[in-house]
Amino acid sequence: MPISRRDLTAGLFAAPVLLSPMRVAAAPALPPTPACDDRPDPTPRATEGPFFTPLSPRRHDLAADVDRGEALLVGGFVVGPACAPVAGAVVDVWQADHRGRYDNDGYRLRGHVETDAAGRWWFATVVPGRYPGRTRHIHVKVGPGKAGGTGRVLTTQLFFPGEPGNARDFLYDERLLLRMAGDGAERFGRFDFVLG
Ligand SMILES: [Fe+2]
Repeated sequence: MPISRRDLTAGLFAAPVLLSPMRVAAAPALPPTPACDDRPDPTPRATEGPFFTPLSPRRHDLAADVDRGEALLVGGFVVGPACAPVAGAVVDVWQADHRGRYDNDGYRLRGHVETDAAGRWWFATVVPGRYPGRTRHIHVKVGPGKAGGTGRVLTTQLFFPGEPGNARDFLYDERLLLRMAGDGAERFGRFDFVLG
């Protein structure tokens, strides 16, 4: 059954999603990306790049890996072609630290989760730093999980609004912009993946 705009808006940063009661109070309701009121286009793909490491640990909290950086709660839904939520989809992320460095020896700022029964994914992390040639971004692979049969893995990247480097980055795609809220103590970023 497709989820409505109201479901998407109200349900994202609900209590079970968040890691602490303080964040429940702070979490804004962000509108979905894209609006799931018509047949949405599948999320565009983007190149994997050179820094993917397979077999990342399963965990929601990547921020514990680092002691520097601006706190970021990032999440959203994974939905199918008709906007029905996909439970058990695997969302695997990897990103640079606040200084733009990847951990290519271990799994710092790398991890994967499965979407919950409502199709939600989320990570507590930090805002990634820029590195030469690239605007700010988070890498993602979204796999259909056990229930998904032979569906392809979606490899893409998420971008941040208002970044001066976006226009100069040839991999930048405005369809892959996070919707952001918050500042200061913690920022919130939302993206809803639409599987083809
Ligand atoms: Fe990258």
